[in-house]
Amino acid sequence: MREAFVCRERWGAALRRVGQEAGWLDAGTGTCCRTRTPEPASERIPFNKPFIAGKELYYIAQAVTLGNIGGDGHYTQECCRLLEERFGIEKVLLTPSCTAALEMTAMLCALEPDDEVIMPSYTFVSTANAFVREGARPVFVDIRSDTLNIDPDGIEAAITPRTRAIVPVHYAGVGCDMDRIMDIADRHGLLVIEDAAQGVNASYRGRALGSIGQLGTFSFHETKNYISGEGGAICINDPALIDRAEVIRDKGTNRSRFLRGQVDKYTWVDVGSSYVPSEICSAFLYAQLEMMDEISEARRRAFERYADGLRSYADDGRISMPHVPAECGSNFHLFYVILPGAKERDGLIRHLGNHGITAVFHYVPLHTSPKGRSFGCVAGSLPRTEDLSRRLVRLPLFRDVSEESQDRVIAAVGEFLESM
Ligand SMILES: Cc1ncc(COP(=O)(O)O)c(C=O)c1O
Repeated sequence: MREAFVCRERWGAALRRVGQEAGWLDAGTGTCCRTRTPEPASERIPFNKPFIAGKELYYIAQAVTLGNIGGDGHYTQECCRLLEERFGIEKVLLTPSCTAALEMTAMLCALEPDDEVIMPSYTFVSTANAFVREGARPVFVDIRSDTLNIDPDGIEAAITPRTRAIVPVHYAGVGCDMDRIMDIADRHGLLVIEDAAQGVNASYRGRALGSIGQLGTFSFHETKNYISGEGGAICINDPALIDRAEVIRDKGTNRSRFLRGQVDKYTWVDVGSSYVPSEICSAFLYAQLEMMDEISEARRRAFERYADGLRSYADDGRISMPHVPAECGSNFHLFYVILPGAKERDGLIRHLGNHGITAVFHYVPLHTSPKGRSFGCVAGSLPRTEDLSRRLVRLPLFRDVSEESQDRVIAAVGEFLESM
């Protein structure tokens, strides 16, 4: 540790200069600075702005100093421990992305060609790609219109003798109906893989998202609540899957067992790939995870400011806003409004753009995409997915969005709705 301290001093001046210039290090002490400067009223409001917690470069310098920047060093282990303890997950392994974690879950399902995996069409491509790479057929199911999460009735109706797994996606950090989904899976002998890319630090009936299915996945991409640029994790809640997950993650070798001193050399034991992130990313992530509560609280305030500011338009039926069922604890990942139609949705995005505000729609349904159609999917088959995805607009929501910016957004949305 003495060596680390000496190096930290040597790196200090350069780090301080970079941090102060970027405005996230306190000029006096050279430590992290959590104050924020409100954007000038005229400045463009981005949809997302990655939050820097303050200690990222310091922890990266520590990782460099400790001498293992490859992977599974001090910071990777600390992040995994923190996530396991906080969320009650049997085993967490960091990965380079949520996409990589989903690919690992698909490999762990040991799928055979033409096996079927049930998932929403209203999701990111990685949810489907991970299973398609293993030869499976994605079976897309409609969403509920209140949470935009997969509809358990649709799951039940989609099960066939070839179904192997269900992949609920916790949209916007609000949990799917996990009681019903786990019940369906138990009755039919199916695996449940929670795509909790957006659901880190959110809960369902007091249990963390990612801790309920046999497997789960997190994203730490820069657009998420807690970030490392690119980054992710696989959550393994079935102990029987842990050994194989470690092997798949480390190039098909038993290197994890070797590092724990359980074998005297490591070798190729199964199919695998390279899903271990660098210590540099893990060190960055650790600074973010330490501030999880503070980041969540800031996002909750921002979410509620939008909800309060736009409630009158929801009350008179001009828009609808996110619904968080009583059994769900949200992480306030997204705030969206749903307009009466596609024309109004496009009009609002344009109107906000003209007012210097970046707002964006969300998912082109996978079953209507060129690749989705190659599985025989047809437009018109998932009416709620198709309808809602044409009408949804996400508003700027990030840790440091200022009240002034939010008030500009609320005023601009209001102006548009009044003119409708
Ligand atoms: C639902 C969902 N699944 C998976 C992913 C992929 O995450 P990553 O970018 O970390 O690979 C995303 C990314 O936005 C997502 O929203």
